[in-house]
This record gives sequence, structure tokens and C-alpha cells, in this order.
Amino acid sequence: MQALMLLLWTGALLGQGSCQNNAGSPEEGSLDPDTTGVPVEEEDPFYKVPVNKLAAAVSNFGYDLYRMRSSGSPTANVLLSPLSVATAFSALSLGAEQRTESSLHRALYYDLISNPDIHGTYKELLASVTAPQKNFKSASRIVFERKLRVKSSFVAPLEKFYGTRPRILTGNPRMDLQEINNWMQAQMKGKVARSTREMPSGISILLLGVAYFKGQWVTKFDSRKTSLADFHLDEERTVRVPMMSDPKALLRYGLDSDLSCKIAQLPLTGSMSIIFFLPLKVTQNLTLIEESLTSEFIHDIDRELKTVEAVLTIPKLKLSFDGEVTKALQEMKLQSLFDSPDFSKITGKPIKLTQVEHRAVFEWSEDGAGTNPSPGLQPARLTFPLDYHLNQPFIFVLRDTDTGALLFIGKILDPRGT
Ligand SMILES: *[C@@H]1O[C@H](CO)[C@@H](O)[C@H](O)[C@H]1NC(C)=O
Repeated sequence: MQALMLLLWTGALLGQGSCQNNAGSPEEGSLDPDTTGVPVEEEDPFYKVPVNKLAAAVSNFGYDLYRMRSSGSPTANVLLSPLSVATAFSALSLGAEQRTESSLHRALYYDLISNPDIHGTYKELLASVTAPQKNFKSASRIVFERKLRVKSSFVAPLEKFYGTRPRILTGNPRMDLQEINNWMQAQMKGKVARSTREMPSGISILLLGVAYFKGQWVTKFDSRKTSLADFHLDEERTVRVPMMSDPKALLRYGLDSDLSCKIAQLPLTGSMSIIFFLPLKVTQNLTLIEESLTSEFIHDIDRELKTVEAVLTIPKLKLSFDGEVTKALQEMKLQSLFDSPDFSKITGKPIKLTQVEHRAVFEWSEDGAGTNPSPGLQPARLTFPLDYHLNQPFIFVLRDTDTGALLFIGKILDPRGT
């Protein structure tokens, strides 16, 4: 299986073979070609580590959420840090009974992992991805309606595993908004601006997920090579944006002919990387790529890309999002949480989910650790120069290499911002 994938990618790199994307569907994903009709599933050692297995599950929730957001806004940028939203849901599941707990577990793909200590493992995952060297901040919070009495048997594990206490609203919108903004500022160390939106009304349960990331490349860009250059919004329209470039970039690369896109990976400090999906043609329709995004597919890509030297251009980027993701979640097997869920482990009163809010800031610039490529990267010998120009709509995925967790995902149709 390993050797086969490698061959396919090498073929793809040279522009001939086809790269099968059948990861994510276990029935087809791991068929040994040598056996006669009997599927043999190989357990990847990476997924034997409970944290990695959990990271794959919540990241698959993240790809689902991304797809819903993206299909809901076909002509706008999308920026999401789905982990903070997944964390809020995982924390909320501590208070869910039976069918409500099952709905949450299905959405988070917990039903596919046999881990008796999901929340303990989640705590480990959060500690790992928010370690200081990652430059990634993420926080989640559960906010309850005014004067709700919350059982201590819910608050104790919430604090133990997720390091957070639920917030009970006062009913004074100005004070409540200010308190939420203050909490967010403290969590994000001031990197995420205060929300200018009003406090939503009619809250029963509000979930809030916040995240910030500023990328530090392993090899920094020379800012003298940054200049205004064309970015093709679509086949007709072009805008000028600050574009960084490196004429001799070392990146990991593969051409996926099934998805008609060129995939590249650039390493960041703190065991992180960004994977880019760049269609072969200028288009705002990235559906084909989006449909294939799963934790398993990204994991395979991470293993199969080949190091090459390339002429790289990439727009400078600073994007932010402040809004609701409620609608996308309602479309994702989670509608029952908004109707009549069973949260009797939280309170005796009937409560239900009413809003899910997300705030995120993401940026990269020329900043990086060193001017020399990291040792150990040996480029494949190519007989032709490779160009990789992110000067048209693309998708990026920020992935934690240690756990495989999806930390940010973006659809960039216009790098000037949403
Ligand atoms: C986008 O591409 C997909 C797959 O290639 C296709 O099925 C779909 O119709 C396209 N959507 C639009 C709006 O063109």
C-alpha cells in the first residue's frame, strides 16, 4: 500500500499518474491490491496514539463545518478555526444525555473511536496544540441564559478537562457583551479585536469559539522581494496585492490529477505546516477539492508529498472572522440540539442551543525563523523548473504536525480580505 501510494505520487509529480483519493472511506481506503477479494485494513501506527486518533475525529468535524460554511458563501472568503468550535461542543457533551449525547458524538466522530477517556484525551490535545511554541491560541466557552442554576456535577468536569467555567448571563446586554469581550481579550492576549456586534437576544445556550494564529515560516521570506502583483479573482477580474516571493523555495509538492490541483506544503516553526490546494485553472469553484478534505486524506498527503525546489509566490495575508456559524451547524446532524435536546446533566430546566459564535484572526507575512532551509530537506531532482504561484483562488489548511489536528482552514478568493 505504501509503495503503491508513493509511485502514484511520483507519477503525479511528473504529470502522468493519477492520485487516488479514497482516504476517509475505510471500506475502499485500505484495500491490499495483492489479496483476492479480502479487504485487509492496515492500522496506521499514527492513529494508535489516542491523541492523534481524537485529533482526526474532531478535525473531520472541522472539515464538515468548513464545507457547510463554504457552500453557504460561494463567492466570499472563508476563515475558520474549527477546533475551538469542536471544543465547545465536546465540552457541552459532558452535560448531554442519551440521544443528545449520541448526536454530539456522531457530529464529532466520537462514535468511530473507542476511547473510554475522550475528555481526558481532549485535554491532552488542547495542551499540545496550544503549547507556546505553536503560536496558536484557541479558547471556547459555554454561555447560559440568565439566572440558570447549573449543576456542580457538570461544572467540575468542565473545569477539569476543558479548563473553563460556564458563564451565566446577567440579562443586561451591555454588561454581558462587555464581559464576553473582556474574557476573549484575556484569552487571546489582545490579538483579537473586541466584537462590534451586539449581544444576540433570546440566548438559552450560546457557544463561543475564538482563535488566533500568526505563522512563523521555518524559512523566512526576503521582504525586499515582496511587491505588488496580480491576483486573479476569476477568469476576468484581477487585483494587485502585496505578494511575497522566493525564487528558490524548498517546498513539499504533488500534483493531484483527480482533483486537478497542485498541492504544496510549507513548514512553520513549532511543528506546524500549511498545505495549499491550488487548482490548475483559475476558478472560484473549489468544490471538488473541498469534497475530498478529510483528516485521513491530509495525513496521506503529508506523507506522500516530495520535496522540490520551486519559484514560489504567495500573497501576504491577514484575515479575520467574527460571526455566527449557527446555520452551518444546524445543517450538520446537529439540528436536534436546537430543538428539544436533553441537557438534564446541566440543569433541570429545559434548555437548548440557540447560537454558536466564532471569532478568528489569521495572518502570515514574511516572518520566519531563519534564512536557511531546514537541514534534511533534500529536493527531488527535477528536469524542469517548478512554479508555484498562489495568485488565484486557493484553499489552505493549517495542520499541527505532532497530532495531525486541523487548526485553521481558509478559502481565499480575494487576499485583500472578506
Ligand atoms: C462546481 O464544481 C463541481 C465539481 O466540479 C460541479 O459539480 C458544480 O456544478 C460546480 N458548481 C458551480 C456553481 O459551477
